[in-house]
Amino acid sequence: MASAFLPGLLAGRAALVTGGGSGIGEGIASSLAVQGAKVALLGRTREKLERVAEKIRAVGGEALVCPADVRDYDAVDKAVHEVAARFGRLDILVHGAAGNFLAPAASLSANGFRAVVDIDLCGSFNASRAAFAWLEKTRGSIVNITATQATVPTPLQCHAGAAKAGIEKLTRDLALEWARFGVRVNAVAPGPIEGTEGMRRLAPPGIKGAEGAPDPMKARVPLGRFGTIEEVCEAVLFLVSPAGAFVTGTTLLVDGGTSLVGAGPFLDLMSQG
Ligand code: HXC
Ligand code: NAP
Repeated sequence: MASAFLPGLLAGRAALVTGGGSGIGEGIASSLAVQGAKVALLGRTREKLERVAEKIRAVGGEALVCPADVRDYDAVDKAVHEVAARFGRLDILVHGAAGNFLAPAASLSANGFRAVVDIDLCGSFNASRAAFAWLEKTRGSIVNITATQATVPTPLQCHAGAAKAGIEKLTRDLALEWARFGVRVNAVAPGPIEGTEGMRRLAPPGIKGAEGAPDPMKARVPLGRFGTIEEVCEAVLFLVSPAGAFVTGTTLLVDGGTSLVGAGPFLDLMSQG
């Protein structure tokens, strides 16, 4: 899918994408680069980051890899300093790093719950807090990637739902506090996005229904199909570009209407709890 935005929209800008080594984060990093931004990729696995960076460089973009765990504030702060030193500025932060799995609340360990909240929510604060001093200089913007589980009660997803709901509240609080510095803070909540690790983890055979039957996950989407990584990227581009200049504190749903109809086939998994 070609972007609806004119190439060069972000020429001269610099971006940091957590979770940029795969899936939706990789797509976002690549689309920012296509629009002319220099892009830094943060994640735990250097090889994944290098692979994406090579792809960006192969089409003439500039990319930097920052292996770090978003749960480690000092490591994130160090990465942000490296990015600012290398690119001379920071205009855009996208927090896409996340962890998730299906687990009934009644058997989920306290550490399992904490791990997801720590990566998703605390990771979002860590990245935002570390980046703020640089974003303030450029009147830049932040986009957090959340999920419809933030607002739709969803069985086997209490950890991820709580983490994403926390991010959406943090998004609004930071948007309010940082508006006076010209820093905008928004979120994008994707629905089911095809070809991603998230879908591989959340749509196992148990939730897919019987062989040969229509896919109940897809049937649950009012628009009748899964979304694409490119469609999430377009929403992010809108928010970080001049087109979104008066938008702050919002969560933009990119879910094909999924959140309008509740948890759908996830409800069938309730008995596993
Ligand atoms: C129950 C689980 C579990 C599972 C891990 N745990 N997997 N519990 N079911 N399937 C528990 C462990 O037993 C442990 O608790 C605790 O979680 C931490 O596990 P670790 O393996 O030590 O953690 P860590 O190495 O930090 O890995 C984090 C992780 C892992 C989240 C558990 O899966 C990961 O790294 N994921 C990153 C990639 C990912 O998840 N991508 C999908 C994002 S998509 P104990 O008590 O045993 O110590 C997404 C979908 C969108 O987010 C919708 C979201 C709302
Ligand atoms: P993914 O490919 O697994 O992306 C998650 C990325 O986060 C990985 O590259 C991972 O790399 C990184 N990460 C995980 N833990 C980290 C940590 N502690 N520190 C730093 N980086 C870490 O999954 P995805 O499906 O594309 O999901 C991307 C984002 O979209 C997530 O925020 C997810 O919640 C959201 N989302 C996805 C869907 C969907 O349908 N897929 C739906 C709604 C929302 P390392 O493991 O190498 O660190």
